[in-house]
Amino acid sequence: MDISSTKTEQRACFVLPTFNEEGNIENVIKKIFESEDEQSSYDFSILVVDDNSLDDTQSIVKRLIKSNNKIHLITGEKKGLGEAYKRGFKYAIDELNTDLIFQMDSDGQHDPNIIPNFLKVIDEGKDVVIGSRFTEGGSTPDFSFSRLLISRIGNLLVRYVGGITHVKDCTSGYRAINVSYLKEVDFSYLSTKGYSFQSSLICDLAWRGAEISEIPIVFSSRESGDSKLSLRDQIEFLLNIPKLGFRNLKDFIKYSLVGFSGVIVNLGLYTFLTRIYNFSELIAPIISIETALISNFILNNFWTFERRSTQSRIRVKFLKFHLVSGLAAVINYVVFLSLFVTFGVHDIFANLIGIVFAAIANYLINSNWTWKENT
Ligand code: GDD
Ligand code: MN
Repeated sequence: MDISSTKTEQRACFVLPTFNEEGNIENVIKKIFESEDEQSSYDFSILVVDDNSLDDTQSIVKRLIKSNNKIHLITGEKKGLGEAYKRGFKYAIDELNTDLIFQMDSDGQHDPNIIPNFLKVIDEGKDVVIGSRFTEGGSTPDFSFSRLLISRIGNLLVRYVGGITHVKDCTSGYRAINVSYLKEVDFSYLSTKGYSFQSSLICDLAWRGAEISEIPIVFSSRESGDSKLSLRDQIEFLLNIPKLGFRNLKDFIKYSLVGFSGVIVNLGLYTFLTRIYNFSELIAPIISIETALISNFILNNFWTFERRSTQSRIRVKFLKFHLVSGLAAVINYVVFLSLFVTFGVHDIFANLIGIVFAAIANYLINSNWTWKENT
């Protein structure tokens, strides 16, 4: 039987961002179509998103388009890798009506020979497949020590702050994504313009429950030209990290309200115990602190995080909550001491900053550990 007659209507679009890739783009496109022949369930198209390259990238793509109507090109001003992907996704979904989107570098660093491996995992029912450098079998043989360190630390931050520790490579640029999930993404919320778009996007997909799987890739060096990763991209990446932690502002607001209620319980009970029942000032705080912790825990468990299906039992969560509160107290104290003693900051102001740091740490750890969502 002719292979083409077994093809279903499934479409896969390869979105290839380019900026000055004249030495690579033709080869990458050629290899993608070669791998189309290695499988039979998807019809491939390629969308090059070129940001007005200063070299011959565009004229090369235009020449290829003349003899292949499965290649498309959109162009625009250079605003960053993330902005290029957002435009490309929109076009691939609205104009090319694709079912599956591949993200891929246009410089030969992502091996097109393994495209069928991605498709296999998608066909098994996964929503997102990441070509992963940090899963077993993956590697970055040509990374300099500093680039590897940046990449590793960046990944750790995204995984732990974003609460997606089950994903090993959150910044990889080689992925296959089921369009039904991308259609739900609010790209205007993904404010990241540069490379950190990759981490915002994977967090967004994971939070909305996409099933993510990783297959190993060897991320070798580019065939020609230089990396476009800039200092600006790295700064944006870092500034984006807290935003990943506060993804659910509603949870944070509820958590803060519970925190305030705890202050009232604590102070109220202390006043009541010492003034009416004549408890000593040494014993009363212990009772009122613990009561406030218990009421905070109950409110957080049954109100703030009520929607979360968590793995731990309530006893374990209760214990973790106490540990985190203890840690927050230590953070409060250390920040206070360093500001007050080392920098001579006014004591009340130093304590206030200590409280803010402790509250943020408290929320981030409880949200991502104590009440960690089941994945
Ligand atoms: N249209 C457009 N606009 N394309 C861009 C831009 C831009 O502003 N910046 C970069 N690109 C294109 C490049 O031409 C290349 O095809 C691809 O995006 C990736 O850029 P590289 O400069 O090759 O990135 P890299 O190899 O340093 O980084 C890779 O690894 C990172 C993780 O370590 C990429 O895969 C990143 O996406 C990934 O986060
Ligand atoms: Mn590259």
